[in-house]
Amino acid sequence: MWVILGAQWGDEGKGKVVDYLADKAKLVIRYQGGDNAGHTVINQYGKFGMHLIPSGIFNPSAYSLIGTGTVVNPISLLKEMDQVRAANVPLDKLMISDRAHLVLPYHVALDKAEEKYRASLSGKEKIGTTLRGIGPAYADKSARWGIQCGEMLDWAHFERRLKTNLDRANRMLEHVYGEPVLDYGEMMVALEPACRAIAPFITDSFSLMRKALDENWDIILEGQLGAMRDLDWGTYPFVTSSNPIAGGACSGAGIPPSKIDQVVGVVKAYSTSVGEGPMPTELQDETGKMLRDIGGEYGVTTGRPRRCGWLDLVALRYASQLSGFNSVAITKLDVLDGFKELKMCVAYDVTRPDGSRFRTATVPAAYLMARAEPVYITMPGWQAQTTDVRTWDGLPKEAKEYLMKVEEFIGAKIKLVSVGARREQTIFV
Ligand code: GDP
Ligand code: IMO
Ligand code: MG
Repeated sequence: MWVILGAQWGDEGKGKVVDYLADKAKLVIRYQGGDNAGHTVINQYGKFGMHLIPSGIFNPSAYSLIGTGTVVNPISLLKEMDQVRAANVPLDKLMISDRAHLVLPYHVALDKAEEKYRASLSGKEKIGTTLRGIGPAYADKSARWGIQCGEMLDWAHFERRLKTNLDRANRMLEHVYGEPVLDYGEMMVALEPACRAIAPFITDSFSLMRKALDENWDIILEGQLGAMRDLDWGTYPFVTSSNPIAGGACSGAGIPPSKIDQVVGVVKAYSTSVGEGPMPTELQDETGKMLRDIGGEYGVTTGRPRRCGWLDLVALRYASQLSGFNSVAITKLDVLDGFKELKMCVAYDVTRPDGSRFRTATVPAAYLMARAEPVYITMPGWQAQTTDVRTWDGLPKEAKEYLMKVEEFIGAKIKLVSVGARREQTIFV
């Protein structure tokens, strides 16, 4: 059983790596997050921005499960299913956990209202969410108002729950945020057909998991986002509302920790982040712009330009320690082709609120992380193009040195190097 998760601020290339490794799997499970994800997969079926459907869907013999720890927007899931179906990808092995929670139109409205309110405050409160209703849906789940997917299988009960929850959400929209309320009938125009269309895919994921474990299936657990946006360990409050780290895979998929064999951290060869919050190695200069342009760093879900910067080994080692990486998949190495020199952050200089300073080689809590200045080492770049390289030995000497520095610093072995977005642009080490 393998967990494949993001080691940075998201968009590390999880989609490509999961699609690649899912070839041999019998079950692929998305364990947290919702349609805030945008996992790019490019394969023989075409190019896809996967939001909620596991990136393993392209293996026709593997089951794909939208796990209990996820939050499911029926309207956007149906759209995604239609897109995948239109590319002749079979959906007969797609399943949705009956315990996964729903993202409903009022969650989306609340996400927008909250972000608008935050933006109207000091200017430092805005999170820069994807506006997909993810935070409000998880908030409802924790507050025990949420609606699980299985509840829609009892339609009368589901309608009663929807009406109650819509009324509650409308009170917040109107009286807390001064926003227009949602009308039940109007809400149901798109929601009801979407719910009815996804209902046949809802299943008891616990029984499926037990069968998979008893029969020793090859299972891949696919994470969303990355460690630095983990609800507990990320740059709070500039985080998502779930746990991308490996511990989240156990609770989100219903897997005992002792059953996990391999934790693979997906690492982009440099850093990117979308949304607000601390990112010590961010470059707001020409180099940052070059990384964005060459790497095509624009959000899959929102189209927002991503903030770009040098590789942050401090954040990476923290992610590795939190999740216990057994191995690492490095992506987008090719984006660094042609740089004269490359920097890597190996420590932070942090100024405390009282003005005193300290140097640290680990990630402090977010209030201090916001005050961290990167300490860099400089590595030589390489002038060769790596996009056609298919073996470790074929990589330029300086590229190997760069990768070996990553291994040395974080203490996990690189098992896969990606040198392009296509499936075949992959080096197994
Ligand atoms: P995810 O959310 O972690 O799956 O990552 P995204 O799909 O949001 O962002 C990764 C982007 O980089 C996508 O556009 C991929 O097609 C692309 N990509 C993935 N691996 C590589 C690689 O090795 N080289 C290059 N140049 N692009 C890559
Ligand atoms: P994948 O899975 C990058 C960011 C948002 C915001 C924060 C909270 O493709 O890596 P949310 O909508 O979750 O409440 O937003 O998290 N964010 C992502 N950034 N990739 C993603 O997904 C993201 N999903 C959420 O930009 O900063
Ligand atoms: Mg993404």
